[in-house]
Amino acid sequence: MRSAVCPGSFDPVTNGHVDVFTRASEMADKVTIAVLVNRTKQSLFTLDERVELLQASVGHLSNVSVDVFEGLLVDWCRAQGVKHVIKGLRAVSDFDYELQMAQLNFRLAEVETAFVSTNPKYSFLSSSIVKEVARYGGDVSGLVPDAVRAALQKKFATPGGGA
Ligand code: PNS
Repeated sequence: MRSAVCPGSFDPVTNGHVDVFTRASEMADKVTIAVLVNRTKQSLFTLDERVELLQASVGHLSNVSVDVFEGLLVDWCRAQGVKHVIKGLRAVSDFDYELQMAQLNFRLAEVETAFVSTNPKYSFLSSSIVKEVARYGGDVSGLVPDAVRAALQKKFATPGGGA
């Protein structure tokens, strides 16, 4: 595979995502993490913060970079000449939705999706769960990259920061 994209919201990136990026970086010559600009969904971190945290988390992967996209993923893929999506699957519960997206993206633009099975040590992990734990002062070390842990601490230490 020459190039591939790992799309998502990454609010924030977790160690489960980093595991998928690492494995994608071994499957494709060049991997782009494409962060969705979502104007309707409220996110904890701004787009710039999510991008910065991703960059800090994948700096050790030389063939991985970060970009943003708005609208349809397949439009970004067409513009960039990328024909492969790589996504992690944590459990059967992810499958229905991921299959639907994969089939739709193929139908729209013949963009193929390859799934990697999430490392079992991260199969319970999601951005939402991490935010919940951090919001109530729980320890998220080992679940997210260090930069994300620090950013979560700062966000929830600021009055109204995580509102
Ligand atoms: O991290 P997420 O929120 O599960 O990522 C979902 C994402 C961004 C990969 C998906 O919602 C997406 O590709 N959105 C862009 C709009 C699009 O292309 N929709 C058609 C496929 S559902």
